[in-house]
Amino acid sequence: MSTFPDHFLSSDDLTGEQTMSLLGLADGLRAERDARIRAGESPVRDVLAGRTVAMIFEKPSTRTRVSFQVAVSELGGSPLSLSSSELQLGRGETIADTGAVLSRYVHGIVVRTFGQDRLEELAGAATVPVVNALTDQEHPCQALADLQTIRTEFGELSGRTLAYVGDGNNVAHSLLLAGAKVGLSVRIGHPEGYAPDGAVVARAQELAAVTGAQITVTLDPVEAVAGADAVYADVWASMGQEAEATERLATFAPYQITPELFAHTADEAIFLHCLPAHRGEEVTAEVIDGAASRVFDQAENRLHAQKALLAMLLGS
Ligand code: CP
Ligand code: NVA
Repeated sequence: MSTFPDHFLSSDDLTGEQTMSLLGLADGLRAERDARIRAGESPVRDVLAGRTVAMIFEKPSTRTRVSFQVAVSELGGSPLSLSSSELQLGRGETIADTGAVLSRYVHGIVVRTFGQDRLEELAGAATVPVVNALTDQEHPCQALADLQTIRTEFGELSGRTLAYVGDGNNVAHSLLLAGAKVGLSVRIGHPEGYAPDGAVVARAQELAAVTGAQITVTLDPVEAVAGADAVYADVWASMGQEAEATERLATFAPYQITPELFAHTADEAIFLHCLPAHRGEEVTAEVIDGAASRVFDQAENRLHAQKALLAMLLGS
């Protein structure tokens, strides 16, 4: 297998083989944790003993913050969660200087920020591994947990189809790249004007040509979900787009995941959402709280997938 990258800034940073091997490790970690907890034993291991991982959040977070914090702790390391408002970053210190300085103290840096360029600037100045915990462009840790959830359900990824319906955003981009790498077909159904980045779609198509996945981008939500094994929704207005939220409600309304739209999927299809969700907007309560929903397994898998990522990036 090729060398694991220095940083994880994009779903494109891992090969398909590395992604599959990470998912295998994540499944193993999940099984081992469950067994230890059932036996009344501590789930803590010593993979990151003596290491500290700093996490910088320039946007709010529930799942990413807590799952990374618990992941580092359960791997035997020390997590350090920092919001930009309590760092000098909030008073104008550059992101590059922040990365260089933190590298002198900690063994890894997890960052949630706005532009992908900001993350790349930090990674360029850091001398320790940097992980993308969501940017405007990508959410690659989320995609790892999503792939783990789909594989757990169906036993494989290759040959299956994931339909993402909504905004061609960060989550859509990472799903396109990660899916294409492992042979999972990805369809995006989006309103006019909200297509995913053309460069990301082109890259996903290039990757899919090798793995046999199909990449489809359409304005028709029914075409997107027809026969799909999993349907995925995300918020219509992402963090940083709050001012557009009202205007987006009307544009995105035909893309709501309703029981009627979901009925076009394959039998046994599942519903996924990265969360947080807005019931009554991108998905009805019937669907997200229904029998096909796997959203809380997905949220749990953030913990296992990120443990596997940290072990591969930082473990000795
Ligand atoms: N899905 C996700 O990244 O959630 P948070 O914003 O709560 O971290
Ligand atoms: N697209 C959403 C994902 C939240 C986890 C956002 O960026 O706000």
